[in-house]
Amino acid sequence: MGTITFNGKEIPFDEGDNIIEAAKKAGTEIPHYCYHPGLSIVAQCRMCLVEIEGARKLATACSTPCNNGMVVSSESPTVKEAVSGVQEFLLLNHPLDCPICDQAGECSLQEYSLKHAASDCRTDLNRRTYIDIDMGPSIKKNMNRCIHCTRCIRYCNEVGDIYEMVALQRGNNTEIVTVDDKPLMTAYSGGLADVCPVGSLTTKDFRFSKRVWYLRRNDSICDGCSKGCNITVSHEKNLVFRLEPRENQEINKWWMCDEGRYGFHFAQSPSRVLAPAVKGGGSMESAQWSEAGARFNDLVVGAQSIAVVASADITNEEADLLKSSLPKAELYSYSPSVDSSSEDKALDHLIRRKDKSPNLKGLEGRGYSAFSKFNPSKFNLVVYASGGKVRPPYGIAKLSETTVGLGVFLKEEVDGFDVILPGPSWLEKEGSFTNYDEINQHFGQAIRPIGLAKPMSVVLSKYLADSVWQAG
Ligand code: SF4
Ligand code: SF4
Ligand code: FES
Repeated sequence: MGTITFNGKEIPFDEGDNIIEAAKKAGTEIPHYCYHPGLSIVAQCRMCLVEIEGARKLATACSTPCNNGMVVSSESPTVKEAVSGVQEFLLLNHPLDCPICDQAGECSLQEYSLKHAASDCRTDLNRRTYIDIDMGPSIKKNMNRCIHCTRCIRYCNEVGDIYEMVALQRGNNTEIVTVDDKPLMTAYSGGLADVCPVGSLTTKDFRFSKRVWYLRRNDSICDGCSKGCNITVSHEKNLVFRLEPRENQEINKWWMCDEGRYGFHFAQSPSRVLAPAVKGGGSMESAQWSEAGARFNDLVVGAQSIAVVASADITNEEADLLKSSLPKAELYSYSPSVDSSSEDKALDHLIRRKDKSPNLKGLEGRGYSAFSKFNPSKFNLVVYASGGKVRPPYGIAKLSETTVGLGVFLKEEVDGFDVILPGPSWLEKEGSFTNYDEINQHFGQAIRPIGLAKPMSVVLSKYLADSVWQAG
């Protein structure tokens, strides 16, 4: 801890801070492209030039650690001229693409052009052109827009842990490619779109689906595994368009995996059951809430023995509600990949976990037993509660006399159920998950419940209110 004088003001810095980080903490952004706090520092874009008192020439703020008493300016005429020159240089080869570029609205090149560039261009040379190229299942590359910051290469090497991207050729011809043009192998390829400061690398999942300035953003927690990565949900008109990582140094740092990033589509699947349904004539038929709710109540009242099987993607609050609404039911948790959290482990060097459910620890902490202990023949009613991410065990509804489904189901999963009471996915409600490390994380609601889905609190209080279920 010490202080530097930055643009005439004394500001504190923490041990190990470079000038960019110290300035950021003090509320000033020093423009930068190649620097990313989660990647190694290469100081090659030269956009972060600053003037340091006593130094013979300008220094790059990303590669210069703060020293107590240092006097730094990012606003002097010399700095302004140099930074504007760097920006002009980076734009020499950049196409006038903003109107058709997916990065527009969140592009560093665009923003810094406005803030730091000269208003004219001194060249009319032709821009180099490449065609868009697929880099595997997740990423599309547009080399016309690349500014050669090499963040993507360092990201693959240092975060993805696979050395699969390189810079080919030199100077004006530099091109970012995968080794031997192979598709990207990393389980974290979507992060390339996050670290690329321009519109060179974009995710195929989001590309051209929405202009970013229309999106609203909410903080949330990924439901893809027991890690509990912090994320941002971007949505518009009650439709979710993308998930992105949100920095949490304790859990996921700046990253998330592809499985989590693209795993939200189940919530908007055309196959999702969006209205209550009851069994009639051998198949499931849509019903009014009043009819399905009354049937649920009748089944609970008439049952001699009840089991609640909760997929480990319901929230802690829902698990508590089930427990208090059906006090004599036996409680079980279900995760598709592990039977109990003791089998969970890290899947790789970074964040992915073996347990592909977000809240097994939370359910275990509330007295839910492992699914392997569940003996369906003991119960004449099973209430299966689903958060949506974890698919129910195949044939669960056929194992006991009667089964009620509470939550998110796909049409192909409801065969054999007696009643389906649709509930919101994690995007459509608030609650909390407890991750593998017993960190309890609250998340907010991003969008309204889709279709006729009702929160579990409403379903249990409205339709079970008059039933006092007694064990036989
Ligand atoms: S593709 Fe993007 S991240 Fe990679 S070097 Fe070019 S601008 Fe940088
Ligand atoms: S590691 Fe797990 S919690 Fe993190 S993004 Fe991937 S699936 Fe989601
Ligand atoms: S951010 Fe410092 S040189 Fe690129």
